[in-house]
Amino acid sequence: MRNKVKTLFSQIAPRYDLLNRLLSLGLDRGWRRKLIEEIAPSPGERVLDLCTGTGDLAVLCEKRGAQVVGLDISLPMLKRATRKTSRSLLVVGDAENLPFSSQSFHRVIMGFGLRNLSCPRRGLKETYRVLKPGGTLGILEFSPSPSRWIRSPYRLYLKTILPLIGGLVSGNRGAYDHLSSSIEEFLKPEEVIKEMEGIGFSRVRHLKLTMGTVIIYLGTKEEK
Ligand SMILES: C[S@@+](CC[C@H](N)C(=O)[O-])C[C@H]1O[C@@H](n2cnc3c(N)ncnc32)[C@H](O)[C@@H]1O
Repeated sequence: MRNKVKTLFSQIAPRYDLLNRLLSLGLDRGWRRKLIEEIAPSPGERVLDLCTGTGDLAVLCEKRGAQVVGLDISLPMLKRATRKTSRSLLVVGDAENLPFSSQSFHRVIMGFGLRNLSCPRRGLKETYRVLKPGGTLGILEFSPSPSRWIRSPYRLYLKTILPLIGGLVSGNRGAYDHLSSSIEEFLKPEEVIKEMEGIGFSRVRHLKLTMGTVIIYLGTKEEK
């Protein structure tokens, strides 16, 4: 699974940003901005952006003066990120086995990465380990269960339009078939919240964006 995902993102890296804008009708920028508003990193804080991809979230944190480390398993995605980021440290690595010592970050963020992990629980445990006490985790992810009245068009969109446009623009229809099924097969919001609480996060809450198609999950590692 991990190698498959790594290959897939490496193949679509050149068209990733363009397809994000197209397939979300430009809404993805607002989703990322909202996550950073919620996480509100302060100047000088150490922020870890997991599954950073082409670095859009890392750039938003940099703009707030945070010291950002962006980690991703795909080198071609990170190479794209180097074109945008100015001060972030970009690291090739696995979000399920982080090369950082415990309690080393004030904030951990992850945009559309959790559902791509082989074991989301292991990834969440790693975020908890590397957060400093009092630190916060913020996750942005698609939901398989949006508001009821949009469910049918959303399914149709995932099954037909997303793989069609993704396939045409990236030249890799299989990748966008996978991205679409990874959304449908992912955990429901209440399941993600249960996982976060089970690992030890407190004050776990979630915000629904764009009729519940996208969710922001927030949690705190309490000071003991
Ligand atoms: C959908 S992209 C999200 C990129 C970026 N965060 C964004 O908001 O656009 C998912 C990213 O997760 C990365 N990824 C998948 N599995 C990973 C893992 N186990 N460790 C680190 N990165 C991983 C992929 O290479 C890809 O760049």
